[in-house]
Amino acid sequence: RSQGPLSGRHVLVSSGPTYEPLDPVRFIGNRSSGLMGLALVRAARELGARVTLVTGPTALSSPPDVEVHAVETALEMKERLENLFPACDILVMAAAVSDYRPTSAMTEKRKKNGRGWSLDLQENPDILKGLAARRRPGQCLVGFAAESSLDREKLLEKCRAKGVDLLVANDISNPLTGFGSSENEALLLRPDGGCLPVSRRSKDALARMIFENLPFRPSPPNNA
Ligand code: C5P
Repeated sequence: RSQGPLSGRHVLVSSGPTYEPLDPVRFIGNRSSGLMGLALVRAARELGARVTLVTGPTALSSPPDVEVHAVETALEMKERLENLFPACDILVMAAAVSDYRPTSAMTEKRKKNGRGWSLDLQENPDILKGLAARRRPGQCLVGFAAESSLDREKLLEKCRAKGVDLLVANDISNPLTGFGSSENEALLLRPDGGCLPVSRRSKDALARMIFENLPFRPSPPNNA
């Protein structure tokens, strides 16, 4: 295993969208491509970490040497992350979890009947908040926030409400960055109010900056 500031550390990354089934062929999802998550996986590997990826459906293949758990729904992602979280040192929650799921999914394809279709949706649990509440000392959590405009006060509130050590906020109204793009621009916020604007750059470069800005002492236990 390569040496680096994260060697001896175990990084858990969540990535991609979640799909919430309406029936066997239709779902509610979102526009996440999984590119930011994959950039985080690569950066963590390059910095020497052992990496586990929990990913919703994407068109991407992940690098070798990474333990991959493919999930589909938010509830599946929650269960998988709850199982894997206790063993990790750093959780980076880059997945775009669907905030809603259909209250019930049909087991057979719904046929058109000319009368439209009213959906009944219920909120999914906040996975990140739940994991943050049961963290053990020394574990470090990173959340993402995709917003239509960046208001620092509101983002700081979100950072604290989620219980994360770092919140990576990006503005989804900019077509040059974010969903599906290979580049991103972000604000990195800490719960103490510290804020670092990161100008537009590759998702790989942003991923590296995220790990460099963790309030995490890179003192590998087996390498001191
Ligand atoms: O509240 P909001 O959706 O803006 O929060 C985004 C952050 O929270 C992301 O890190 C996302 O992965 C996580 N999240 C979650 N469970 C949800 C919704 C979002 O863990 N149900």
